[in-house]
Amino acid sequence: MRDPRGQVGTMRHSNSSARAFLFLALFLALSTGSVPAADAGRGKSLFEACVACHSERPDALGPSLKGVVGRKAAALEDFRYSNAMKRAILVWDEDNLRAYIKDPQSKVKGNRMPYGGLTDAADIEDVIAYLKTLR
Ligand code: HEC
Repeated sequence: MRDPRGQVGTMRHSNSSARAFLFLALFLALSTGSVPAADAGRGKSLFEACVACHSERPDALGPSLKGVVGRKAAALEDFRYSNAMKRAILVWDEDNLRAYIKDPQSKVKGNRMPYGGLTDAADIEDVIAYLKTLR
């Protein structure tokens, strides 16, 4: 979406030099420690782990995450949240989502989401980028 790099000269090269270019780009990105722009497409595949509970099915274990970015915690009428989540007076902005996805139990102590959290910072950014597209 916000990444124009894909355009750079991929067609002119053979597959192997394109691969070498990608490898070099990845190496540079990792070695300089720069954080690449969040990737909602990658976030979508990472979100598969969440969909196990966060689907639109009536019998889903977790609340729907459609429109969760900017929503108050425990805001859905038709989901039975834990008291811990109901007492957590917070809005799911990016900072709160980041902290919760990283470590659900330390962000909202005693909440019932049976999920350990994502450890990789880039994974978390990508999942949040995808959540923003869920409207
Ligand atoms: C094993 C089931 C399960 C998995 C997997 C899971 N969740 Fe949850 N999630 C829940 C439950 C249950 C709650 C409600 C917690 C409560 O009420 O204490 C919840 C709550 C949430 C909330 C708060 C929603 C609200 O309306 O306030 C967010 C945000 C959230 N989860 C994000 C995620 C993300 C992102 C992932 C994947 C990285 C994920 N969850 C994976 C079960 C799960």
